[in-house]
Amino acid sequence: MTDQMRSTEEIIGRAEIDDLEAIMAVYNTDVDETLHPVHSVYDTVFTWDYDKGGRPKLDKLYEKAKKAQWNAQTDLPWETPVDQEELVVANAIANGGFQQGIDVSGTPLAKWSDKEWIDFGVQSQNWTLSQFMHGEQGALVCTAKIVESVPWIDAKYYASTQVMDEARHVEVFSKYLDDKLSGHYPINAHLRLLLDDIIADSRWDMTYLGMQIMVEGLALAAFGFMHQMTTEPLLKQLLRYVMSDESRHVAFGVLSLQEYYQQLSASELRERQEFAFEAAVRMRDRFLQQEVWDRMGIDPRIVAPLLLQVPERKMFQTMLFSKIVPNCKKLGLLDAADGWLRGKFTELGVISFEDWADTGEEYDTLQATGEAAVAS
Ligand SMILES: [Fe+2]
Ligand SMILES: [Fe+2]
Repeated sequence: MTDQMRSTEEIIGRAEIDDLEAIMAVYNTDVDETLHPVHSVYDTVFTWDYDKGGRPKLDKLYEKAKKAQWNAQTDLPWETPVDQEELVVANAIANGGFQQGIDVSGTPLAKWSDKEWIDFGVQSQNWTLSQFMHGEQGALVCTAKIVESVPWIDAKYYASTQVMDEARHVEVFSKYLDDKLSGHYPINAHLRLLLDDIIADSRWDMTYLGMQIMVEGLALAAFGFMHQMTTEPLLKQLLRYVMSDESRHVAFGVLSLQEYYQQLSASELRERQEFAFEAAVRMRDRFLQQEVWDRMGIDPRIVAPLLLQVPERKMFQTMLFSKIVPNCKKLGLLDAADGWLRGKFTELGVISFEDWADTGEEYDTLQATGEAAVAS
């Protein structure tokens, strides 16, 4: 086992988790790219065991998913007018002004008037929704791969409904960006690195871990946060619909991996822990919004350290892990291999979420409200 273990530097490309210079050095230089092929060698698995319901919890999820389908084009009030600038101003008023209490003296931000701050807020919205859209495409591609590679019929059935869900999520974020916002951003380099790693791995359970547990766990928390904060009624409703699907998706990951991990050795579990850690760091790195600062003509290296001190921002970054940590615990990933991942999540400052509700249980409640939202 020892010779397999990798150092932090080998896993995430830097020795210090918070090394801002190293984080900023990872950049998307391919901003005009339109197609992005990723090579992956894996087994497509047929099963001749058609025993539907052999895994009752997955079967129950599949039956739920069939009833919870909605139509992105017709079920949302797309006629709702959206004024981005007005939203930015409302948001600033709710959060103690544009600068959120940061001391910007001596930085290029000291010269900013309300106009620049509003523009920054608008770009920030465009960036955030663009990254959601790219992440959704990642989920679309990953679940199609799970349909092919997972050996259980109940999981293939369920995953096929998720492929449809994710197509709808890409569609809905893309339409919102086109119809209501004011520009797209290319995929963030940290997010792309992560999606590349997930899709390139040949082992079916790694697709699950990377996508269902890590990316979707974070998305569920981020959508929940935004759903709570936004005053824009169309986005609020859109996120409610998407979240009702996402809670099922994370549950699918937890239920499937719980069974599979029971047969893995300590060194195999350690590899899964390292992958979970890598994913956690990549997702955290992207929230520095380098591309937005670039577009505003500000060197992100000057402002990033300031922003990291804003308490609301710190809380938001931490909250993003409120689903991931309990789900990793439920899978036995925190304490396997001498508690390696527990140590890493402690370093990241997110271990306190370990006893929060895991999504294996939570989806029933989220689902019920989701269906109510769909019905109304
Ligand atoms: Fe999704
Ligand atoms: Fe999803």
